Amino acid sequence: MRFLRNRFSTLKPYHSDYLTEGTILNSNESPYEVPQALKDYMKENIDKLLVNRYPDTDSSKLIAAISKAYDVEAEQVTCGVGSDELIDCILASCLDEDDQVLIPYPSFSMYSEFTLLNNGMGIKVPLKSDFTYDIEAMKKVIEEKQPKVIFICNPNNPTGCIMPKEEIEAILKLSKGLVIVDEAYEDFASQPISVIPLINQYDNLIVLRTFSKAYALAGARVGYAIACKELIDLINTVKPPYNLNMFTQLAATWAIEHREIFKANAKKIISQRAYVEEGLKTLGFKTYPSESNFIWLEMEDDYFDALRERKIYIRKMAVENKNYYRITIGTPEENEILLTALKELKK
Ligand SMILES: Cc1ncc(COP(=O)(O)O)c(C=O)c1O
Repeated sequence: MRFLRNRFSTLKPYHSDYLTEGTILNSNESPYEVPQALKDYMKENIDKLLVNRYPDTDSSKLIAAISKAYDVEAEQVTCGVGSDELIDCILASCLDEDDQVLIPYPSFSMYSEFTLLNNGMGIKVPLKSDFTYDIEAMKKVIEEKQPKVIFICNPNNPTGCIMPKEEIEAILKLSKGLVIVDEAYEDFASQPISVIPLINQYDNLIVLRTFSKAYALAGARVGYAIACKELIDLINTVKPPYNLNMFTQLAATWAIEHREIFKANAKKIISQRAYVEEGLKTLGFKTYPSESNFIWLEMEDDYFDALRERKIYIRKMAVENKNYYRITIGTPEENEILLTALKELKK
């Protein structure tokens, strides 16, 4: 591509099918629409919004609501256009040319992408063969190379494994660099595993959260970081002004203030996850234990296209040249559609 920096030669323009029909189980979104009460709230307030003015660049009301929900100080929170923007901002704020970034593999693809875009050097640490974290291998890399940044996706996308809190603490103690614990899917863990309560103890910890999953606001694009004030200042130093539009700020503030509604939906997903996992196992597919709103599994490649023909969309991902599949947990009806289709295809 003309003009593209040499360093970016492996990158391709990002594309993702915009699906609005069928059984959409490929992007780990919430299958539940936002509550009618939120839609009504947006309608009531839309006339009051001063759209001719810029939005509150500090997202003050939203940050106040988040800090209240997690019992942290407002200055320990910042918001981004999805947690994607915050991953980018963190790396932009601290990486010098070729600084090293520890990235477990497979994990969320944007860690490597933003590392590259910010001139860093990713060090991939493979998960074990059962797709759980290889904590010893991670510790060894930390001791030997002291990467500037370490990513821990907890629960991990796409495999659903988790890292216990004690191990995260061991890594925080071992590392001189920043440890980013991405809790995009924490609401779906069987037990609370958040390390937000540790932010006052470790000045190298940043926790990322998002409204795109359990909070059903993927379309609004909003995520947040919680950390000690010094690290929040670091992110805010490079964060673009006015990043969150006023509609998003309004919707997300309502959502966090009514979080019990979304937590109840997350519980439904957790119980459906067990149902879908059992169903997949009964059909003979190899699944991996998941603490998230999706299941990582092995299946023959033909199923992917056959499901697509029936407008059932799941995600295919290659790891070391072998294809694996990630299926998002849907509503009970959607999960039934999936399992019935697979049963028919098995015949
Ligand atoms: C682990 C993880 N972190 C972050 C994100 C990005 O979320 P957001 O929509 O907040 O940018 C995703 C999205 O799929 C994800 O899987």
